[in-house]
Amino acid sequence: MSGAKPSVLVVDDKENMLKLFARILGDAYAVTTAPDGVQALALLSARTFDVVVTDIQMPGADGFTVLREVKRRAPDTEVVLVTAYASIPKAVEAIKEGAYDYLSKPFDPDEVALVVARALERQRQRRDALGLTARVARMPDFHGLRGTSPALQKTHALLAQVASRDLTVVLTGETGTGKELAARALHRESPRRDKPFVAVNCGALPAELVESELFGHAKGAFTGATGAKAGLFEEAHGGTLFLDEVGDLPLPVQVKLNRALQEKEIRRVGTTTPVTVDVRVVAATHRDLAQEVAGGRFREDLYYRLEGVTVRMPALRERREDIPLLAMHFLAGANRPELEGFTPQALQALTAAPWPGNVRQLQNAVARAAAVAAGPRITPEDLPPELTTTSARASAAPGPLPAEALAKQPYREAVDRVRDAVSRDYLTALMQEFSGNVTHAAERAGMERESLHRLLKRYGVRTEDFKRGD
Ligand SMILES: Nc1ncnc2c1ncn2[C@@H]1O[C@H](COP(=O)(O)OP(=O)(O)OP(=O)(O)O)[C@@H](O)[C@H]1O
Ligand SMILES: [Mg+2]
Repeated sequence: MSGAKPSVLVVDDKENMLKLFARILGDAYAVTTAPDGVQALALLSARTFDVVVTDIQMPGADGFTVLREVKRRAPDTEVVLVTAYASIPKAVEAIKEGAYDYLSKPFDPDEVALVVARALERQRQRRDALGLTARVARMPDFHGLRGTSPALQKTHALLAQVASRDLTVVLTGETGTGKELAARALHRESPRRDKPFVAVNCGALPAELVESELFGHAKGAFTGATGAKAGLFEEAHGGTLFLDEVGDLPLPVQVKLNRALQEKEIRRVGTTTPVTVDVRVVAATHRDLAQEVAGGRFREDLYYRLEGVTVRMPALRERREDIPLLAMHFLAGANRPELEGFTPQALQALTAAPWPGNVRQLQNAVARAAAVAAGPRITPEDLPPELTTTSARASAAPGPLPAEALAKQPYREAVDRVRDAVSRDYLTALMQEFSGNVTHAAERAGMERESLHRLLKRYGVRTEDFKRGD
């Protein structure tokens, strides 16, 4: 970031104005121009700018629409509006809506340069004042975790904070939300970074083997134990042990894990000699551990020992603003350098999909689309059909609306529409996760089966569409 020129997007429907701005600002800044509001919105959906300078009166999407979209997607970007003398009251209105300042035509070049420089200065001060959160926000990625949404930035800041304290951390979140990446990030941000990071998937090991995997065994401890072997705790000595899917550990092993965490020593299977281990444990689960405790599947004492610091990785549908950025990132890794990006319709489809498999599903979807796309840009037809059919099903009823269209409705109606769209997305994702099984889905949703049935009916989500037939 530092060293690179600040980026400025100029939006104006008059070509001579775009040229004028490019001449005034081009030396000091990386200037991008857009000939109308609609194209500006397309650009803004794919990347962010430090400053946006936009004309107010344009056909299609006007300066206000651009302003609202910028503030919704990238609140940190400063917006300067350009207006004819007659619409100064409008510009004042815009400042109330979050614009930094306005320029009234005609203006002289110095004025333009000055207002952009001031906008950048204010941005810098605000970023510094925000401290850690802002420092993390400016990083292109946090040890591989990408995203600029407030939800993810909050998570990154929390990870950065707890990393250096030697506490046990539990990472929760749906499948594909980046729990493993987060575990590695915690290790790399900690003083243990030069020591081993050892990962084990507790759910993938047969129950009889988990204990000796974790704690090791003595020679002859069980059939097949032909020699003594150190376990993963010993292997991770000085470093971090990542217990993935900790909710899947058999109860007897949970007892031993709890003791190991408490006493900071372990016993190899078949021995009584304690071995001291200095290990920081990071655990992950896609289950709700409190619910597992209530159901008798998880030890309460272990739960209380672990739950000290819980970091929840947000689902992708809770931070849809990250989708264009992540999609571009994964496309860059797809080995199709001739592909320029996505059509606005494809981005729209990606942004609207329910993503029950979260970032992993997005990554796979982009890789598949890149493999089949004829180019130069990925179109909705290139996307895996389940994405577009789900959103097509969801949009049979009125779907989510862009902010500018919402703002043209009374508050109540706008809020109702957003709620309806979110409810439909939620129900679709829920049905996808539970393959249309309403009993199981209702348990997750925390509601009665009957209520869930009613909701599904109301939003036209059909359970049959999600049943696994093949
Ligand atoms: N914020 C992110 N930025 C970039 N890549 C991400 C991000 N989150 C996840 N990924 C990628 O998505 C994939 C899934 O991430 P990861 O394995 O960490 O998820 P998980 O929560 O452990 O999933 P599961 O519960 O299924 O094990 C990985 O390829 C990872 O690199
Ligand atoms: Mg994982």
